[in-house]
Amino acid sequence: MALESPTLLVIGQKGQLGFELMRALQPLGQVVGVDRSTCDLADAAAVDNLVATLRPDVIVNAAAYTAVDKAESDQDKAYLVNANAVKALAQSAAKVGALLVHYSTDYVFDGSKASAYTEDDATSPVNVYGASKLAGEQAIAAELREHLIFRTTWVFGAHGGNFAKTMLKLAGARESLNVIADQHGVPTSAALIADVSAHIVAQYFAARNAGTASGTFPFGLYNLTAKGETTWHAYASKVIAEGIAAGLELKAAPERVHPIPTSDYPTPAKRPHNSRLSCDKLESTFGIRLPDWTVHVESTVKLLAELKQ
Ligand SMILES: NC(=O)c1ccc[n+]([C@@H]2O[C@H](COP(=O)([O-])OP(=O)(O)OC[C@H]3O[C@@H](n4cnc5c(N)ncnc54)[C@H](OP(=O)(O)O)[C@@H]3O)[C@@H](O)[C@H]2O)c1
Repeated sequence: MALESPTLLVIGQKGQLGFELMRALQPLGQVVGVDRSTCDLADAAAVDNLVATLRPDVIVNAAAYTAVDKAESDQDKAYLVNANAVKALAQSAAKVGALLVHYSTDYVFDGSKASAYTEDDATSPVNVYGASKLAGEQAIAAELREHLIFRTTWVFGAHGGNFAKTMLKLAGARESLNVIADQHGVPTSAALIADVSAHIVAQYFAARNAGTASGTFPFGLYNLTAKGETTWHAYASKVIAEGIAAGLELKAAPERVHPIPTSDYPTPAKRPHNSRLSCDKLESTFGIRLPDWTVHVESTVKLLAELKQ
């Protein structure tokens, strides 16, 4: 007898991650994507109505207020989307018995730790965006046992706006660039986050079909980034080197990317100096092997170069 096909609702389908989730989740069931025009996450009644009508098995929330600097002067909106709306979404998920998959950030930490942060480390956000995302995490944990929250860092992809694409654009227009060299983190591709999310949701479905999901499935909070580490400066140099190797005509060579301290590039929002997250818990719990950050940077820059030609 064929198993019934599950329904997966992706909120924020037009963002970097939402776009990749709409691809990666397809083999798991019927995937329904919504964006701001079809469902404003901040409209709790509309979200609740959508969830009640669709009765999805899984809700994947890729929507968020992600304008880190703007959030400093737009605190209410950042909290509305990243905390209040997320709490309401968790309540809607609970009503229909859906698993809620959600994404958070290394910016819940102040970056003062010398090594990679684990899921058990104390949080201490240094900006409004980080604080609002932390409030969202806490709301989900309080409202809904059946949740997965993935904290990630420095997201990039071929679709949407991100640091890698900005560097290629700037390197095409200028002969030299100054880039921060004293913030450490891990560029993580939206495709990797989406693929790992799909693997884990597949494990959830397998447990549910075996009748064990609600009892033993390891719901909760996990770090999800690529392996290795770098700085914004070394990341920019790598992107530009790969761009040139892939045939892009760039004015700035990698050696013309100059390292600067954070203090030389003031921004409205403070950023942690250490954004590294240990992914040991995710790898050992779900049997997943995360690739080095350079793997997807190389393939994404190649793709972007091909799309330009
Ligand atoms: N980007 C990063 O470097 C990074 C780092 C760590 C964690 N994260 C987390 O990873 C997740 C995915 O981020 P991303 O990089 O894919 O972000 P993104 O590209 O900025 O996409 C966010 C999406 O959310 C949508 N959105 C915002 N407010 C909404 C609302 N009220 N109703 C419906 N949709 C709304 C946006 O739509 P509009 O375009 O219409 O605004 C956009 O499509 C987020 O939870 C983010 O906090 C990101």
